[in-house]
Amino acid sequence: MSKKVLVTGGAGYIGSHTVVELVKSGYDPVILDDYRNSDPSVLKRITQIIGYEPTHVVCDVCDQNRLEEIFKTYSISGVIHFAAYKAVGESVENPLKYYSNNIAGLVSVLNVLKQNPKVPFVFSSSCTVYGEPMGLKEVDENTAKSIPTSPYGYTKWLGEQIIGDLFISNNRLRMMSLRYFNPIGAHQSALIGELPVGKPNNLLPFITQTAAGIHEKLVIFGKDYPTVDGTCVRDYIHVVDLAEAHVKAIDHLLSLKNGCHEVVNVGTGKGTSVLELVHAFEEENNMKLNYTFGPKRSGDVIEIYANVDYAHSLLGWKATRDINDGVRDAWKWEKSIRNIQ
Ligand code: UFG
Repeated sequence: MSKKVLVTGGAGYIGSHTVVELVKSGYDPVILDDYRNSDPSVLKRITQIIGYEPTHVVCDVCDQNRLEEIFKTYSISGVIHFAAYKAVGESVENPLKYYSNNIAGLVSVLNVLKQNPKVPFVFSSSCTVYGEPMGLKEVDENTAKSIPTSPYGYTKWLGEQIIGDLFISNNRLRMMSLRYFNPIGAHQSALIGELPVGKPNNLLPFITQTAAGIHEKLVIFGKDYPTVDGTCVRDYIHVVDLAEAHVKAIDHLLSLKNGCHEVVNVGTGKGTSVLELVHAFEEENNMKLNYTFGPKRSGDVIEIYANVDYAHSLLGWKATRDINDGVRDAWKWEKSIRNIQ
């Protein structure tokens, strides 16, 4: 019988792609979501890709009693915890919203895990925990963490700390924090992808919405940074590669006899500037994008990309898609939801 993996936030951007990849690898995902930041129509779309309706439950991840019931009802064998708020700017305006949901949600899941210590756990962390790298721009898992620049960042930083502390108290638990770099793209079917609520903060959704005519132009924040072309550099990872990394993480944790709290970077290992991403979008999709330069955005990291050696040695995982795949799939997705030919 297929192992059931509880995917909190399974209707969201990374969650929905992970659900699809779990099915492809023989797992039986159980989607947990309350759709506050996602759309239930994603279930139909996942169904179209995987060929059956996935198990799904409507639940607030902070509702520990209900989580306990779900664990029992479905005999959960693994947990991937995505459900959390993720808008950096909003977290500055409304920090308590972030602390109450992201931290309480994590603690609620971990409380249930404590009662089910054989169940492996994967946490969605972020490269935001590194802040601005002081030396090398390529960061590995031993690079010192820095003070987060937003309450959102603190929830990831603290999330890893909470998991680490729990591991000290019970070293039989098998847990992994995946530090994502910048996810982009969509499933190649264009049936699932990112659905930003309101005006997107992230670069690629803003690019695709500008190309679709929703915004007049993209504003590139800053042009005189000390980088290859004056714009900030990030490690853009295709969301399907990222989803596959989660499956490898669950595979790995299930194979272990002993407990652990592993921390693993999930990126491509390659830095790409904002301008390079814009040009890749234009070239790959054969179109011109209207863009201009504006002031720097406060709190932006100048340059960071992942060292991905540990993901490869520990999980046997490597990204197989590049930014051209990402910008192509993101545009295909944007066109499909806007009915653009
Ligand atoms: N950018 C623009 N114009 C825009 C949007 C973004 O120039 O309209 C630039 C940003 O200034 C930055 C780059 O594009 O240089 C990437 O910005 P994103 O907002 O897409 O991504 P960030 O790297 O700022 O943030 C992402 C995630 C966060 C996470 C952070 C960790 O969105 O959740 O990485 O560094 F915390």
